[in-house]
Amino acid sequence: MSTSIADVKKELDQIGRDARSANEFMSQMTKLLHDRMLKYNWVGFYMLEPGSQPPMLALGSFQGAMTPHTRIPLHQGICGAAASTGKTIRVDDVNKDPRYLACSIETKSEIVVPVFVRGKVAGELDIDSHFPAAFGDEDQEFVEYCAALVGKQLEKSLA
Ligand code: SME
Repeated sequence: MSTSIADVKKELDQIGRDARSANEFMSQMTKLLHDRMLKYNWVGFYMLEPGSQPPMLALGSFQGAMTPHTRIPLHQGICGAAASTGKTIRVDDVNKDPRYLACSIETKSEIVVPVFVRGKVAGELDIDSHFPAAFGDEDQEFVEYCAALVGKQLEKSLA
């Protein structure tokens, strides 16, 4: 495991222990990932809007440039695909993926990882990079770890 991933994981574990709310944790996580992971150029959460019909993802905490996509229906975008299938989606070249909704012309690759609460998709962690194929297996494992930490915080807030 690369040093930065191992270090950031430890910091996230600590931040998770100290967090007063899931929202505070998500905000701190986006900042830490954006500041410390040099190829993670946009980091944000989309969360399922309670009660929306059809179901909608709404932009939550994020770091990076403002995106035009503040609400995304489940049948649109890489974000919609990850939330509706409950599977991580990694795209090495966003310009070759017809599902892609552009956020910045600089974005070249993207990873979207669902956040599960009590076994159901509650939202997702979305990361864009200015570098092609920026997300390898190690990044996927790491971003899935981050999403699982958020799921645990959200479950704690329901308990
Ligand atoms: N690219 C995403 C939209 C969100 S922005 O990247 C912040 C998608 O295709 O769903």
